Amino acid sequence: MMALSFSKESEERITKLLPKYPDKMAACLPVLWIAQDEFGWVSDDAMRLVAERLDLSLAHVYGVATFYTMYNKKRVGHYHVQVCTNVACMLNDAYDVMGSFERELGIKRGQTTEDGLFTLCEVECLAACGGAVCVQVNKDYHEKVRAEDVGAFVKKLRAAVTPDSAKAAGTIEAKG
Ligand code: FES
Repeated sequence: MMALSFSKESEERITKLLPKYPDKMAACLPVLWIAQDEFGWVSDDAMRLVAERLDLSLAHVYGVATFYTMYNKKRVGHYHVQVCTNVACMLNDAYDVMGSFERELGIKRGQTTEDGLFTLCEVECLAACGGAVCVQVNKDYHEKVRAEDVGAFVKKLRAAVTPDSAKAAGTIEAKG
């Protein structure tokens, strides 16, 4: 029995998307993206759902999902903080920025805070080298981030959590 199903909204997005692609296999990337949008990450069940929806083998969908780092194969926090440490960012002290996030959040890269609010990751080039150091938080890019800015940045992110957004993300019990 299928554990997951797409919502009506996701199903509508998929229906609109499919005619733009030569075949269903070519639509695997965007449909995985829709799955991540809806479920927050791409679990084995989500991959199974995408495979079934596109009449593809699970092995194919698994191969695609695990090749690209933009698909989260593990559940991530309310804020998925991705710090680029590739060359341009590294030369602009990306490791200091990363260190500040680790200190500020009390976790190491690759970990999620106990309240489920933040997951911190180190990533390769985010294609915003002119804005080094680049930090991606969920779908938003933040450029020219400096280590000394991180404290205020994290504070701002915490302040932006609403009871509704926390509930939707299944993370903390936000204060009303
Ligand atoms: S090196 Fe960091 S965005 Fe390109």
